[in-house]
Amino acid sequence: MSRIVVLASGSGTNLQALIDAERSGTLAGSVALVVSDRACGALERAEVAGIASALVPLRDRKDQTERAGFDARLVEMVASARPDLVVLAGWMLLLDDGFLVRFPGQVINVHPALLPDDGGPTVASSAGQLPALRGDRAVRGALRHGLPVTGATVHVVTAELDAGPVILREEVPVLPGDDETTLHERIKRVEHRLLPLAVNRMLDGTLERPAARAVGGIQA
Ligand code: GRF
Repeated sequence: MSRIVVLASGSGTNLQALIDAERSGTLAGSVALVVSDRACGALERAEVAGIASALVPLRDRKDQTERAGFDARLVEMVASARPDLVVLAGWMLLLDDGFLVRFPGQVINVHPALLPDDGGPTVASSAGQLPALRGDRAVRGALRHGLPVTGATVHVVTAELDAGPVILREEVPVLPGDDETTLHERIKRVEHRLLPLAVNRMLDGTLERPAARAVGGIQA
């Protein structure tokens, strides 16, 4: 059985989608370890599900010395679980190059917006070409830009922010009266469906993995 390590910093609903898929026998792997940088819902969900979990705390993101120690502890913690796949499911920190060199082509991320195949600044949608919203304000960005549609994307993590090969992507309409919370909840419902499917695609080898040289980087 393939081993999955999930990195999460938030409420953990995407982690829960993986746990539920594994329980229902539809996940091509098993969540072996959940790692977080802070006390959060994701760690609680891991505990409830009886999955091994680890808190690797980072108090001051801007303290370079603390950050270097954190990055080293994080990679060793993840490596200790011998993962076939690392899933960033609401992980809110940048990963250093060493992390992705250690797990080449084996790290995927779920992102709350449409992202293009070519890593470019725009993405094709049913409403025409739209800005590709990268980074951690993607849901807010869809509202600020007044987009008619946004979406969810699962992609392989590479050196460029939210620009790696897309595994799965689906549109989500922006509805009149939407605020960040209502829109994000609707996007998450799609994420919860896409993420287990994307994990299966990675683990059953139907998606070509990028060369180790190409990786390094961040998520949002
Ligand atoms: C998701 O919307 C994901 O796309 C983004 O962070 C959110 C995490 O939500 N990167 P949850 O913690 O899985 O509920």
